[in-house]
Amino acid sequence: MDVLVIGSGAREHCICWKLKSGSGTGKIYAIPGNPGISKSGQCYDLGTGSGNFKDIADFAFEKQVGCTIVGPEAPLVEGIVDYFNGRGLRIFGPDKRAAAIEGSKVFTKQLCEKYSIPTAAGVTFERTQYQKALSYIESLNEDDFPIVLKADGLAAGKGVMIPETKQSAILDIQNCFIKNAFGNAGDKLILEKFIRGFEVSVLCLCDGKNILPMALAQDYKKIFDGDKGKNTGGMGSYSPVPFVDAKLYKKILEQIIYPTYDGLLNEGIAYKGILYGGIMVSGNEPLLLEYNCRFGDPETQAILPRLDSDLLEVLVKCADGKLGSSNLKWDNLKSVCVVLASRGYPETSSKDDLISGLDFLENSRDVEVFHAGTKSAGTGIYTNGGRVLSIAAKGKTFKDARKKAYMAVSDIKFEGMQYRKDIALKVEEEI
Ligand code: GLY
Repeated sequence: MDVLVIGSGAREHCICWKLKSGSGTGKIYAIPGNPGISKSGQCYDLGTGSGNFKDIADFAFEKQVGCTIVGPEAPLVEGIVDYFNGRGLRIFGPDKRAAAIEGSKVFTKQLCEKYSIPTAAGVTFERTQYQKALSYIESLNEDDFPIVLKADGLAAGKGVMIPETKQSAILDIQNCFIKNAFGNAGDKLILEKFIRGFEVSVLCLCDGKNILPMALAQDYKKIFDGDKGKNTGGMGSYSPVPFVDAKLYKKILEQIIYPTYDGLLNEGIAYKGILYGGIMVSGNEPLLLEYNCRFGDPETQAILPRLDSDLLEVLVKCADGKLGSSNLKWDNLKSVCVVLASRGYPETSSKDDLISGLDFLENSRDVEVFHAGTKSAGTGIYTNGGRVLSIAAKGKTFKDARKKAYMAVSDIKFEGMQYRKDIALKVEEEI
């Protein structure tokens, strides 16, 4: 079966790489793809916004693509699945109503309240309630801080703020409601309690009736070692997550994931695609931080290398509502993914710096290099965005996987390259 992957990041490169290893995969197309994907697939420079859905569907129809797989959230939230379904084309991902689980944090908060899904206590303010939001902040004590502010809609990964003081919370609210920093995505703002603990990402395959959790992963959101500095799209990940024992895992599924899926069904939403729960574990109790409606990035780059089952087969089953009682096979190895970012990330990103060392890693055992913000020009590959490459490695132990990943990192060079040195360090001694 020929497939089309939508997106241009390391997540999409990893999906293409995994699809390629499947016995039933034919040609791989990507829109728009990236230079890494173009080594094994054909990339087409079409946009992925709602204005391009017709062109993308025409492309899928003309190329007789058997399944389209959507990487990023924006086309899902804008309704690409509804459009494809309307044209009778198979696509993997949730439809617009279901994608609201990521597209509207207020929708998710209300769902959690209605179905008693544990999450941080919060209040929602609309833009017209700006003064009320400020009074709420004024009413808090200094020891109520930090708090969490979440813009309702998609805000390119910048919509979650964690002000440490009243003054910075007020500035963040002004920024959202008055300076309109997030556009319509900032029409509503959730103010919620900050929860301390550790995070785990639970990605589940869904077919509208059945739900199948994938191997767990943990990602590193802050730019600097020791979880310091600004939030990013993710600077690294590892899988599995040894801190989650069987009892905690059961709680995560039974208290959060399954009630959400059933709650959605009860609301008339048959969720298909990936349901990704960002879970905070505090004192051994899980709470929902957020849901995403797609594969995580960079979790995917740590999870998929461990998958022994055929990815395309299971994605098609999800799209067709035929997951049934399928299960997934995972290897027993540990995997670690280190993200290499360009100078200035996450505030800005530098471009056009030559990347060296990629050829050297091309046939490395247990190491894969997934492209994100790269472009090719002449015979060279250059930086072209914030997160540039994901280096994923597997080993018998986390120590072994880290060693392979960081050795590969040391082979790659570009001006201004930055990366965290502590990815999976906390699990290094775990077996
Ligand atoms: N790793 C965070 C995300 O995919 O949104």
